[in-house]
Parts: sequence; C-alpha cells; structure tokens
Amino acid sequence: MVNLAIVGTGIFATDTHLPTIQKINDLNPIATYNRTKSKAEIFANKAHINSNKVYDSLEEIFKDSEVEFVDALLPVQFNLDAVKLSIEYNKPICFEKPIAANLSQAKEIVQLSKSTELPIMVLENWCYLKAITVLKEQVLPQIGEVVGFTYNATGPFNDTNKYLQTTWRQKPEHIGGYLSDGGVHQLALLTEVLGNVESISGLTKQLREESGTDDVLFSTLKMKNGVIGTFTYGSAFGATDKSTSFIIYGKNGSVNYDWSPGHKPSIIYETGTSQGTRSKKKTIEFEEVDTIEEEFKNFRDSVVKKDKSLVVVPPEKAFHHLAIIAAALNSSKQNGASVKIELP
Ligand SMILES: NC(=O)c1ccc[n+]([C@@H]2O[C@H](COP(=O)([O-])OP(=O)(O)OC[C@H]3O[C@@H](n4cnc5c(N)ncnc54)[C@H](OP(=O)(O)O)[C@@H]3O)[C@@H](O)[C@H]2O)c1
Repeated sequence: MVNLAIVGTGIFATDTHLPTIQKINDLNPIATYNRTKSKAEIFANKAHINSNKVYDSLEEIFKDSEVEFVDALLPVQFNLDAVKLSIEYNKPICFEKPIAANLSQAKEIVQLSKSTELPIMVLENWCYLKAITVLKEQVLPQIGEVVGFTYNATGPFNDTNKYLQTTWRQKPEHIGGYLSDGGVHQLALLTEVLGNVESISGLTKQLREESGTDDVLFSTLKMKNGVIGTFTYGSAFGATDKSTSFIIYGKNGSVNYDWSPGHKPSIIYETGTSQGTRSKKKTIEFEEVDTIEEEFKNFRDSVVKKDKSLVVVPPEKAFHHLAIIAAALNSSKQNGASVKIELP
C-alpha cells in the first residue's frame, strides 16, 4: 500500500481523482486538506479518511510522516508553494496542470525539481493517451517525412460547464485563463506526437465575459524539426459542432486522428506520394485508456522505486506546454508577430 494525501478537495478531486485512486488497489488516501475545511471533511468521508487526518494547513500534510506522496489539485497559482513544501519536507508531489500561473513560477518549479532526486510530476494526463503511441508507432512510419499539420479543437460555449463556477477561473491569475487551462492538454498531445515547438504566430480574442480573459486562439506554428502547421483552439464560440481533429501531412500520405464527440476516436490514414498513387483509406479503431489512472500508476511506480526518471511528465515537459500559450499571447499583443517559445 502506498499512502497519499489529497489537497484541494474541489470538483476534480471529488469527481475524478478520488474515484480513480480508489480503483487502483495499492493506493491508499490517508490525509486531506482544503482551504474550506467543511469541504475536506465531506471529502474525507467519501475517501474513508480518518477525521484526525483532515488537516488545517498545507504544511501539516507534508509534515505527516505516514504520507508517502501528495496529490495537489489547487488553483494553479499555488502549485509553486506546494512544490516548495515538497522539497522542504522531502516528500514526492504530483500536481495538476497547467504547471503554474505564469512562466516565472513555472521556471522556479523546473529549477526546484532539477535540484532534487524526489519524483515531482505535473498531472498532464493527455501525455498518456494511447492515440499518441498508435500515431507514432503504427502510422507515422508509413506516411513518410512529416511536413505539416492542422490541429483543431473548437466548440460552442457551454454555459452549464461546472468549471465556470470556480472563482479562480472567473478571475484568472493564470495567464491565458481557459486558453492555458485546456490548451495545455491539446499542446501535450501535439508535442508528444510531433516534438517541441520553436515559434508561434498567433491571434487571440475574448469572446465571453465569463472567461475573464482571451478565450480563442488561431495560430501558425513552426516546430523545432522544421514541420509547420496550424493550431486552433477555443470553446467559446456560438452554436457549432464540437470538433477535435489532428491531421498530419507526410510526403507519402496523411493521417486524421479525430476524437470529436459522438463516435469512437478514430485514426484514418492513407499512403501514396500523389493523387495517382493513393491507397485505400485504412482505419484504426482502438479503446482509449483511462489517462488519469495511467498517470497515477506511473507516479506510484516512481515513488515506490524512488526513481524520478520514471516520471512521464516532469516539470520541464509541462513548462513547454505553458510556454507555447505564453508565446501565443505575446504574439497576439504584437499583432501576430512570430515569437520564440521560452526555455525554462
Ligand atoms: N487534468 C484535467 O483534466 C483537469 C480537469 C479539471 C481540473 N484540473 C485541475 O485540477 C485543479 C483543481 O481544479 P477544480 O476544477 O477541481 O477547481 P476547484 O473545484 O475550484 O478546486 C480547487 C480547490 O482548491 C482550494 N483552494 C482555493 N484557494 C486555495 C488556496 N489559496 N490555498 C489552498 N487551497 C485553495 C479550493 O478550496 P475552497 O473549497 O476553499 O474553494 C478548492 O477546493 C486545477 O489545478 C485544475 O487545473 C485538471
């Protein structure tokens, strides 16, 4: 059994982390903390956590010698404080994306994580998508040298979205508001498949007052390996289909990974160097994994083996996802000028 503490007992902790942790036999939640204690007490009940382990401060969680790692689901501007406590008390921590509220906090987190042998992980669950492995191992080798892509994740504004009620999202201290909140997931998928981004030219706009800041992004990207493409993101539009697709163009074919709602995620590809040599389309259907379960198993293994090299999403990887959003916002302020992605 690996004992853990859950801090920040809000929507995602209650609806997703707790049920997922309870599915993994050897994970045992034993302590909790939340700013509003009454919510932590309700959470403790659901999690079968003893009432004497519902703590009054974040620090007490880290002081508890029975806690083997901390799972933090705080408004992201508090991630840095949690990582500092993790280093001070020599206790592994995993914490929710985006890595931080801005690049200066994110840089500090990367430096702190480099200074220790402790496993420190950003819970960027999209890095565990099975689609990434299928694309990289089964499809990309067949479509030849990759030259470009169009990545589109757009949808209508959802006024019943439960996350709209959270005050830290209504008045975001984190750069980009929803653009970084959800955008880092999309960029995790994009970069896991095609590698890191070198520069971006983007235009952003605020369509909804409720978003607190700009909420849609249209952009052009240049990858480190020379591949070029477009990245369009936003869920603040008027009535339209929710559409999520990632088309990759190679010199010997192309692939379309489509995970729009309403059907199973599908990967459809064709090969050939031209219209004349075009193959029939081939479809790969697959069951997607539970990415939250995968990330917890990954972190459990790195904690048990005391091996930080096992962590799939160390802070430096998650830094890049946020740095792309930061560069896009910067670019938009300069009317779409090309902006290099900052390094940690
Ligand atoms: N991976 C994913 O797909 C995914 C999905 C959703 C959310 N998330 C991440 O999960 C985290 C939590 O999001 P959520 O939607 O669950 O938000 P939430 O419901 O607002 O939960 C945040 C919790 O943090 C607590 N908190 C607020 N200010 C605090 C402070 N100053 N110090 C300590 N605790 C404080 C809140 O306590 P009170 O009860 O006092 O307000 C609340 O319980 C965020 O980092 C978010 O990005 C990830």
